[in-house]
Amino acid sequence: MSHQEANHEFCKRLPKIELHAHLNGSIREETLVELARERGVELPPEFHDGFHTNRDPSQFLNSKPRSLVDCFHIFSFIPKCVSDVAALERITREALEDAADENICYIELRTGPKILFHHEGEVCTKEDYLGTIIRVMESFERRELNRYEAIDRRIKSKTVEEAYENVDLAIELKASGCKQIVGVELGGDPTKNDFGEHFLPVFSKARRHGLPISIHCGEVPMARESRDRPDLVRAHEEALSILKFGPERLGHSLLISEDLGVMLDDLLIPVEVCPTSNVLTLELANHEEGCLLKGIQNHPQLRKWLDSKYPISLNTDDAGIFATTLTREYALVAKAFHLSKIDLSNMLIDSVETIFDPGKEKLKQAITTRVNMMLGP
Ligand code: IMP
Ligand code: ZN
Repeated sequence: MSHQEANHEFCKRLPKIELHAHLNGSIREETLVELARERGVELPPEFHDGFHTNRDPSQFLNSKPRSLVDCFHIFSFIPKCVSDVAALERITREALEDAADENICYIELRTGPKILFHHEGEVCTKEDYLGTIIRVMESFERRELNRYEAIDRRIKSKTVEEAYENVDLAIELKASGCKQIVGVELGGDPTKNDFGEHFLPVFSKARRHGLPISIHCGEVPMARESRDRPDLVRAHEEALSILKFGPERLGHSLLISEDLGVMLDDLLIPVEVCPTSNVLTLELANHEEGCLLKGIQNHPQLRKWLDSKYPISLNTDDAGIFATTLTREYALVAKAFHLSKIDLSNMLIDSVETIFDPGKEKLKQAITTRVNMMLGP
């Protein structure tokens, strides 16, 4: 029975962990539409397009236009809709409720602190932004104590000044005993290629203060040498400086060049894999009529990582934008690569090693016990 292929129902019941979810990208589709209507924001046509996006778990179809460029265009509309504290509270609460519905027992939500407005029109500072999320998390945790081992969040940065500000905020909050802050991350426009030049000292500071780090990497093509494509060489230089820095985890690492792939095999830095996001941003299913199964089979790294038992975790990235759930991500990978219930469970349990919360042993034990009960003798 444990050697049967892991189906949707099994994946739903698995006590999962989510390590790569952007708070604003996790917004429910209907919430974004509602907030946009209330605030008079016109969402771009590509947000609604998609000739057969389908949440039927057995179908695995998704033709929403979500290339990297489409995504960043859509992302620019979200802050216009999540413009005040009420909206922030709502999307945080809904992200946690959705995670609970998915049987997610540990989540690291990442977000870039923003200046918003309170209902009365007063300014909500970045400290208030974080304070609001922490408050929503704490009240959710109190309500859900039995179901949750931990709920954590990481802070994400865009510009260098912001990054220093955010890292300082994270250091302060952690020093004050805030258990919700477990690390920091770097995401945003992957064509900037400025980690080595600008962000290295910021993340070195985070590291000196004991904050674990995750960095988005290899989202755009790269090459060690190229006569006519300096952009590829710049992308390679950035990825090399990220690997040399050695963050605790990497996001995506999809289009890593062969030489850096060899380096990564040596470093074994755990990678946060976001299957549907990867298929859509790389447009791997565009010639497969939106079939995510075929798309994920075309993933540049995943088959190799599964075969070699490379340390990976499965995640959603932006569940609202990619119209997915963590259950669906697990079921998609299981079906595409014919993973048995036991294979998938082992992958989940191994991925607990890569969480940022210091209580990983306890969580691993709890998940293992529940999984063993599901697998039976
Ligand atoms: P926020 O930080 O809570 O506002 O989450 C949304 C933001 O996450 C977006 O505006 C992007 O900057 C970032 N983001 C989401 N998905 C990706 C990705 O795949 N690569 C890089 N950045 C991303
Ligand atoms: Zn991401």
